Amino acid sequence: MIFHAIKAGGVDTLIERYTRAARGAGNRGQAIWSAEEDPQMNCPSWLRIRRLETASDREIEGLSDVLRDCVEGGASVGFLLPLTRGKAEAFWRGASASAARGERVVLVAEEQAGAIVGTAQVIWAQFENQPHRADVAKMLVHRRARRQGIGAALLAAAERCALEAGRTLLVLDTASDDAERLYVRQGWQRVGDIPDYALWPAGGFCSTTIFFKELRGTP
Ligand SMILES: CC(C)(COP(=O)(O)OP(=O)(O)OC[C@H]1O[C@@H](n2cnc3c(N)ncnc32)[C@H](O)[C@@H]1OP(=O)(O)O)[C@@H](O)C(=O)NCCC(=O)NCCS
Repeated sequence: MIFHAIKAGGVDTLIERYTRAARGAGNRGQAIWSAEEDPQMNCPSWLRIRRLETASDREIEGLSDVLRDCVEGGASVGFLLPLTRGKAEAFWRGASASAARGERVVLVAEEQAGAIVGTAQVIWAQFENQPHRADVAKMLVHRRARRQGIGAALLAAAERCALEAGRTLLVLDTASDDAERLYVRQGWQRVGDIPDYALWPAGGFCSTTIFFKELRGTP
């Protein structure tokens, strides 16, 4: 895992490995992470994670399927039921445009045949006094692909993207116990809960939990 890699090889080694992978990929649309490249991660050998420059119609469709599946499964990730295909696609078109403007990174986790099974975003803090900070958001894995290490791999890839961009302080919030365990395992620190922060997809308030991670000791 990235946390272990930082402890074992240092951040510089990690950046070097990431940069090598990105260079080898040729451009930002190609794989930036694969199980083969990071055998420490316990995830399927077919998995590859790509950074989207802009999303094609096929990719918008795949991302929308993942988002709708998560919301239908009860995840509090910004939407209420019913989440129509049109609304989900509009969200991803907006995220894709934002990525094209350089405001965020959209990652996709894919099967060998190219089907999207998961996604995560790294959103750069825009204020000039936070050039070292980013938010991790919309980490989603389709229910059919869960519990195989894809969430952990997406988080590791998100952290690599942040490091490459010189962002060393990451923040996120979550209403998911499954996600909380993942963040703690990968070295994130729990700050606390905000009660009644949002609604569950089917209604009713849910709290959110804030986490942060420093990718090196002193930003
Ligand atoms: C949170 C989420 C992204 C995790 O995705 P995931 O791909 O299932 O994550 P992982 O596979 O890395 O880890 C999940 C569990 O599977 C286990 N696991 C990982 N690889 C495994 C394998 N090869 N065999 C068996 N179990 C495995 C992990 O140890 C972990 O166990 P735990 O639940 O006891 O902690 C996913 O549950 C999700 O999309 N939830 C809905 C959306 C959401 O709430 N997202 C968070 C927003 S902040």
